[in-house]
Parts: sequence; structure tokens; C-alpha cells
Amino acid sequence: MSNDPLLQPYRLKHLTLKNRIMTTAHEPAYAEDGMPKERYRAYHVERAKAGIALTMTAGSASVSRDSPPVFNNILAYKDEVTPWLKTLADACHEHGAAVMIQLTHLGRRTRWDNGDWLPTVSPSHRREAAHRAFPKKMEDWDITRIVKDYGDAAERMKAAGLDGIELEAYGHLMDQFWSPLTNDLDAPYGGDFGNRLRFTFEALAEIRRRVGSDFIVGVRYTADEVIDGGLTKEDGFEISQRLKESGMVDFLNVIRGHIDTDAGLTDVIPIQGMASSPHLDFAGEIRAATNFPTFHAARIADVATARYAIASGKLDMVGMTRAHMADPHIVRKIVDGREGEIRPCVGANYCLDRIYQGGAAFCIHNPATGRELFVPHDIARAKVRRKIVVVGAGPAGLEAARVGAERGHEIVVFEALSQPGGQVRLTARSARRREMLSIIDWRIAQCEARGVVFHFNAWAEAVTAIGENPDVVIVATGGLPHTEVLASGNDLVVSTWDILSGDVRPGTNVLLFDDAGDHAALQAAEIIATSGAKLEVMTPDRSFAPEIMAMNLVPYMRSLQRLDVVFTVTYRLESVKREGNGLAAMIGSDYGGVRRERRFDQVVVNHGTIPLDDLYFQLKPLSSNLGAVDHDDLLAGRPQSSVRNSQGKFQLFRIGDAVSARNTHAAIYDALRLVKDL
Ligand SMILES: Cc1cc2nc3c(=O)[nH]c(=O)nc-3n(C[C@H](O)[C@H](O)[C@H](O)COP(=O)(O)O)c2cc1C
Ligand code: SF4
Repeated sequence: MSNDPLLQPYRLKHLTLKNRIMTTAHEPAYAEDGMPKERYRAYHVERAKAGIALTMTAGSASVSRDSPPVFNNILAYKDEVTPWLKTLADACHEHGAAVMIQLTHLGRRTRWDNGDWLPTVSPSHRREAAHRAFPKKMEDWDITRIVKDYGDAAERMKAAGLDGIELEAYGHLMDQFWSPLTNDLDAPYGGDFGNRLRFTFEALAEIRRRVGSDFIVGVRYTADEVIDGGLTKEDGFEISQRLKESGMVDFLNVIRGHIDTDAGLTDVIPIQGMASSPHLDFAGEIRAATNFPTFHAARIADVATARYAIASGKLDMVGMTRAHMADPHIVRKIVDGREGEIRPCVGANYCLDRIYQGGAAFCIHNPATGRELFVPHDIARAKVRRKIVVVGAGPAGLEAARVGAERGHEIVVFEALSQPGGQVRLTARSARRREMLSIIDWRIAQCEARGVVFHFNAWAEAVTAIGENPDVVIVATGGLPHTEVLASGNDLVVSTWDILSGDVRPGTNVLLFDDAGDHAALQAAEIIATSGAKLEVMTPDRSFAPEIMAMNLVPYMRSLQRLDVVFTVTYRLESVKREGNGLAAMIGSDYGGVRRERRFDQVVVNHGTIPLDDLYFQLKPLSSNLGAVDHDDLLAGRPQSSVRNSQGKFQLFRIGDAVSARNTHAAIYDALRLVKDL
């Protein structure tokens, strides 16, 4: 038996958890019709198979109809949820993983124009900034009905054979009662501290009445809102004690902070460039004060920190939630002594940000996550070994090389630059986004372990590729900044890449015209504004930086607002001309009727990339498929079968930004789904 602290079993009431690693509740928005169907099940089973001790399913599964599924939550208020959860739980139990679910009423943290279009409810009329609904202030009959809903939902979960439930009480209805900032009710549910906790204990009592004392029930709650006028740390410790002493709760899952704003949420769930495990000591203090089972997660992304959290006695169970989205096989790799092979979570937060935009959670560099039904995490070996030449060692090219090598193919990679990484390397020049380099480093290590041959400083011509006598050539040459977008004066502007790379120094009075809305613009903006320049970021869109989602925007705003950067929306840069020793920019608008000239000394244009596709078009006539991708084969997971030139000696494909400007996830997914079947 291993003496690794992370691999020691943990006894929670009657339940033995086989090790100390769990995933905390997270709604990946994979539900279909509000139900956890095949996709949902496959996602959790992947973790169970790899040895996770406890998977807390859902995330904010709704107990009531007036808690609409704002990020495609599971509808725990419907009876039909029980058989779906039973199938999921049975499948995970087969692999020895315990399965629980988080239940909640979202209160004001949702929208009324969703689900059944019922008014949202809360103990006050105060609006939550993040979701913008003005809630109805609750009445007595709302409270009675929702307390009963908690009991009904808990009973369904028990009937599904789950090992337990957890109630969400941070930013949701339960702690909207607790916090003086969100409770305007009079006694008996508002006013003093005890009154504000009354709803929670009534809900717990109802749950216990319905599921009995054996079923495991925990609470995930904020024990310090870290906001003026909100719940203090002292309040949080008192709540922790009262939860324990109620005898109705079996574990505490500690959160610190408030989530009603994007900034608050980002401090609770930090992203890349922010501190690792910032609330671990706090959770440890609660464990020490209560001497009660304590769980916690917040950017404990690597095994060493997780091990420390357990070994130091700060936690009983450590949550590695996003870490498992990046690599669902963490526990298996620890057990097998292969920790070094774990695909690292780089904190890009593509996963979480997407659900707040109505999308499903995807990991920026593991496209198999959430697609388990048709994209495997483990790559099968090919029956026939082929030779694949990959041109370009950015994220797409490296993923193609990695997956090809896992298939057992012979892989040769040509890269024009001296180092791998492509655009990711440029991104990682910002200190705050340096972790992105792990996307590259992990792939290089995987490739090297499998004998991939790399040629750096090697500009591949058609003859270079053909000279290798390949069966397949994959062009992953990426793109170059596309700045030729003005009616005139294109030669007078610079690109965001010029700023990011340091090739061009920022001016003193700068216009950054952002027509892509992505990270490159705001990263360049940070460099320009930090240099002391006066900066205006202008976009023709309705809002600025539309591709940078909620939580990723937070660190940018924290620095750019301090530096007095001006953001202008709905205006379009039309042309630039030289005037004296400066530039005159003609500004128009897609809405028409506005044209005015403005003076700057530097104009930076961000308009995505234009594919670097010369090599592809040189090779195209020589290939057997003439570059064609058979979409039916691609989407059905079959080898590419298109033959359009019987004289061609190799198949040719291009992937990533060499096709069109997209993002890192898209580039890696292009590579994975093509090469897994080659
Ligand atoms: C896609 C996604 C959805 C989440 N939804 C919930 C949720 O519904 N309820 C909840 O308590 N936490 C939710 N979380 C937060 C996680 O449980 C966890 O606290 C957070 O990701 C920090 O832990 P980590 O750094 O190990 O990922 C979500 C996280 C992610 C990535
Ligand atoms: S998207 Fe980023 S934060 Fe989310 S799991 Fe992947 S690497 Fe981690």
C-alpha cells in the first residue's frame, strides 16, 4: 500500500472514499433537456475509471422551477432526473468512485427569461451584477415551497443511489439569506444572524426528514464574503460551527469570497497568473476550528500542492476540478508513478468562461473533455505504421505530432523558428499568461518520449516535405497578423504582434483598433499603457473584447483601468494618413452618419491572422486527396478516404490557423480529431 497522503482512504460517515482526490461540483453544461444523459455520464465515468475517489456531479442542480437553468443546469426538480442519475451513479460505482450531487436554488443568480419565465426570487429586490435580473423579494409562501423543494430533490437523489448531496451556499439563495447585503426581509427570516440562517436550517431539517440520518449531506458555503458589509470571517466561523452542531451536516466544503461580480468570482476561482491555492490556509483554519470533515478547491492545480493540502492536515478531501478537465487520468498517473505525464491545467479558464456565455465547458488544450463519446482520452495504436510530416510546431502541429506518435506513426516535424509554440509563445510573453507555455512544453515532452524528430530553424519547402517520402503531410503553419484592412494607410499601422514581440516600441498617443476582440488586443494594450502611453482601444463591436470572456477579462481590467485606458465601442477605423510627425485617423461607424478625423502618433491594428498557406497550395496538386478533408469521415471518426488524384503519393491536410484564424482549442481539436484516425 502506498504511503502517499493523497492515496490514503478517507472515511466519511459510513462511506469509504478510496483516496483524497475529488472533483468539486461544476456544471459543464453538458445536460440535455436538463438531464444528465450519455454525454454527462461518459464525462464522469472517465474520471471514475481513472481512480478518482469522489465526483461531485452537477453543479447547481436546480431544486425549483423558479431557479431557471442559466448555465444548462440539471433540473433536480423533475422526477425524470432520478433514472438518469441512477445510471450515471451505477456506472461510476462500478469503478469504485463515490458519486454525489450539488443541489441549489440560484435565487437571484439567474435570469427570468429562461426556463419557465418565472420571476427570480431572493430575500431582497437587489440585482446581482453578473446575471442582471431584478428579483422578486420573497414572501412566506415562497419560503415554504422552496424548503419543500429541497426535500423533494434530496429524496430523488437518494432514490438514484447517489452517495450524498451538497447544498450550494455561496452566491445562491441560501447565502443570499445569510448576507446582510442581500437580505432585506424582516423576522423571522431577516434581521439578526440567527434569523438569516433560519431558511438554511429549515431546508436541512426538511432534507433530513425526507432522506433520514444516514444519507450524506454537506454544505458548500462562503465562510467570508470578503466584501464591505457582507459576511465576515467571524460570521463564517460561526456558521461553520452551527452547521456542525446542527447534527444535520456531514461535511463542510469551504469557499472564501463572493461571486456576484465577475471580479469577485475570479478571486474565488483564480485563473492563470493569479496565486495558487489562495484559500487553502483559510479552509485549513476552518478545519482546525471545527475539527470536522473539510473539503476545498480553488486552484490547487498540481499534485504537489494537493499532496501538501492533505499532508499538512488542512483538508480531508482536496478538489482538483479544472485539473481533471485538463487531465481526467490524474489519479491513475499518480498511482502508476507517472505524475510527470499529467497534462497540466494552465488556468486559461476557457472551460468556466464558456458556460457563462451559454456554451459547454471545454478545456483549452484537451478537446476530448466533454466529447468522451466520440473523442477518446487514450489514443489507440494504428494497425499500419505510416510516416507523417508535420510542418509547424505551434499548438496544432504539436498536437498532430503527439497524437500521431501515440498512434505509433513515424513523425517528423519542421519548424521555421528556433523554438516551438507559435502564437502561444507570443501570448506567454505576458508574465500573467506565462503558464500557457505548459501547453507547448507538455506536448514537446510527450513527443520526445515517443521518438518524434524535430527540425527547428527549418523552413520547409514542398521539396523538403516530399523529400521525406511521407504517407501524410500536415500543414500547421499558422498565420500572420492581418492588418491590411483599411481603405488606405495600411503601411502606416503596426500589428498587435509587433507590440507583443517587442519588435515595435509603443508610441505616446496610441489608437488600438481591435476588430478581432481577442487576447492579442488587450495584451498589447497592457504593454502600451504600461509604457506610459495614452491609449484608446476602439472597436466596431457592441462591446469591447467580445472573445475575452467574463473571468479572463478581470485581470486586464484591473490593470487597464488603473492605467486610464479609454475604451470606445461601435466606431470603425477607416483609414490613416501621415500628417506632420503624427498620424491622422479617419473614424467612421457601421451605423452611418459619423466621420471624424483624430490625431495619434501610433495606430495599432488587431484583426486576427491571415493563413500562411503557400506550402499547402504548393503541395496540393501533388497529393492524393488534393487537400480535401472528408467531413463525413472526420465526424464519424473514420480514416480519411478521399482520393481525388490517383497519381498522388501522400495525403495532405492543413489544420489550425493555417486554415483560418480561430483559437488554441480549435487548433488542437483540428489536429486531434484528424490524426486520431490516421
Ligand atoms: C465549468 C465549471 C462550472 C462550475 N460550476 C460550479 C457550480 O455549479 N457550483 C459550484 O459550487 N462550483 C462550480 N464550479 C467551481 C468548482 O467547483 C471549483 O470550485 C473551481 O473550479 C475551483 O477549483 P479548481 O481550481 O480545482 O478548478 C465550476 C467550475 C467549472 C470549471
Ligand atoms: S481551460 Fe484552462 S483552466 Fe480550464 S481546465 Fe483547461 S487548462 Fe484548466
